[in-house]
Amino acid sequence: MRDEEVEAIRIRLRAAIPRSRYEHSRRVEEESRRLAVKFGADPDVCALAGLLHDCARDLPADELAAIWSRLDPGQTAEPVVLNSALLHGPVGAVIACEAYGVCDPRVLRAIQRHTLGAPDMAVEDKVVCLADYVESGRRFPGVESIRSLARCDLDSALICALDGTIKHLVDAGALIDVNVILTRNALLRKYNRMPKAGDIPANQHRETAE
Ligand SMILES: [Fe+2]
Ligand SMILES: [Fe+2]
Repeated sequence: MRDEEVEAIRIRLRAAIPRSRYEHSRRVEEESRRLAVKFGADPDVCALAGLLHDCARDLPADELAAIWSRLDPGQTAEPVVLNSALLHGPVGAVIACEAYGVCDPRVLRAIQRHTLGAPDMAVEDKVVCLADYVESGRRFPGVESIRSLARCDLDSALICALDGTIKHLVDAGALIDVNVILTRNALLRKYNRMPKAGDIPANQHRETAE
């Protein structure tokens, strides 16, 4: 996509979403480009996906559900049903295609996967997902250590980010979508970092076994 086309998308996006969301999206665009260069992904693909990743984030729940119903294979997971905000990844890919004219499947897939991940994430998917976690406006506890890791190890940084998300959901007593768990498991397996039974502290091991 030419620079003028991307600039036209920025102008339209700025008019379509709240200012704070647009500013976050521009930071994710910049961080995605930076991480893509670092980790050998396509910088233009990642930057465009970063720019548009939240284009559906502020749609009303009924609109998200209406677009989702066109995509839904009929097996929607319970956490997604209960938290319609989780739909803004897959619905955002539809909006990016239909409203912003983005055709590149790598861009659309990275937008689609930025909320829940996927066990077979491509490097572009990982870059955009991580950029969303660590863009310079993020202030949550632990973000600095994920940011430092993101400078040298994409998968480890993503595992830490997913760990934080899962811990937060557990603390909040919220449902966890199975894709988040499958994504983390796939990343851990890739690095052969599955703990052996003896590595798990005794009390946790016992609780797991009971
Ligand atoms: Fe998002
Ligand atoms: Fe975001």
